[in-house]
Amino acid sequence: MQYRTLTDGTTSFEVSTLCLGAMNFGTRTDPATARAILDRFVEAGGTFLDTANNYNAWVGGTGRDSEDLLGAWLRERGHRDSLRIATKVGAAKKDPSKPLSTTPPTNYEGLSAEVIRKQAPESARHLGVDRIDVLYGHVDDREVELAETVGAFGDLQREGLIGIAGISNVATWRVVEAREEARRQGVAPYGVVQQQYSYLHPAPRFGRNNFVTPGLLDYAASTGTRERPQLAITAYSPLHQGAIARLDKPLWGGVDHPTSRARRAVLHEIAAEIGATPNQVALAWLLGGEVPVIPVIGVSSIAQLEEALGAPDLILDAGVRERLDAEPVGA
Ligand SMILES: NC(=O)c1ccc[n+]([C@@H]2O[C@H](COP(=O)([O-])OP(=O)(O)OC[C@H]3O[C@@H](n4cnc5c(N)ncnc54)[C@H](OP(=O)(O)O)[C@@H]3O)[C@@H](O)[C@H]2O)c1
Repeated sequence: MQYRTLTDGTTSFEVSTLCLGAMNFGTRTDPATARAILDRFVEAGGTFLDTANNYNAWVGGTGRDSEDLLGAWLRERGHRDSLRIATKVGAAKKDPSKPLSTTPPTNYEGLSAEVIRKQAPESARHLGVDRIDVLYGHVDDREVELAETVGAFGDLQREGLIGIAGISNVATWRVVEAREEARRQGVAPYGVVQQQYSYLHPAPRFGRNNFVTPGLLDYAASTGTRERPQLAITAYSPLHQGAIARLDKPLWGGVDHPTSRARRAVLHEIAAEIGATPNQVALAWLLGGEVPVIPVIGVSSIAQLEEALGAPDLILDAGVRERLDAEPVGA
């Protein structure tokens, strides 16, 4: 396992460069399997866990199943102090009688100060912790003044309830404005942004703000100075939910186009040549990029986890990276 430091310029801590996503734990992934995966991740040196206050409401769960499972497991194992826990606020149901949707009307609670103030301590309670290491706004909320959202995260950090604030599913210009607003208010800026990202890119579309873009990578690369504290990038769906490894799975979410299929073919070819698996190469590509990205992996079995655990130590040499990043032939 490899490690790196997250910091927002005021708070810093180390995390494993592989983050374990717990979205399905306690719902799609049964509790016993989830606990076995958590145990093995920690045994292998993993220290960074990712959840949210709405997992997995859309498959009939309470929305707190993942936080509850992590909380019970942390208590049982006594691992609290050695692990870093990230959770998210703002995309739980506003109206409990209606479903959540990723398209309007989303039924998200949003990122008002009232929601953040109410939900953050609830997440801490469900997780059984007195401090949330990373609290992300789950989906950017343009209906609320940025100053209000930024101020609410700043207050929670000052009070010690959260370590570093973050934001997810957001346009780069909004991240930059929020960080400038934090500076105006004298509070710590967002130190982490979580977006969808994998070796397969989506077709561009106006309003598609949930992916890592070249602009976000460029901005992140410019951070890490006194005036502009580090912005780390974490990536969800880094395995494209299995579709990188398995050709029978759909290339969902704007990624089903000839360039993706050609890139996936190159990835499989290179993986076979270097004796790694396509998933390991896809994760190593994220981890070892010019701007290193922390993959938030989802796994539903120990075998899948074991495969992912091989990625942090897989270094792709310059020639391999060049081939992976070349315009694919036939696209
Ligand atoms: N911020 C956000 O809005 C957001 C959104 C989504 C997710 N997340 C976070 O990101 C985490 C990961 O998301 P994700 O589940 O979409 O990511 P993912 O890692 O791209 O997909 C996970 C799925 O990939 C398949 N897989 C994993 N290893 C495999 C292997 N070796 N061979 C074949 N298939 C394999 C499994 O599918 P099967 O179980 O079908 O085998 C697994 O459930 C979540 O747990 C959550 O913490 C955040």
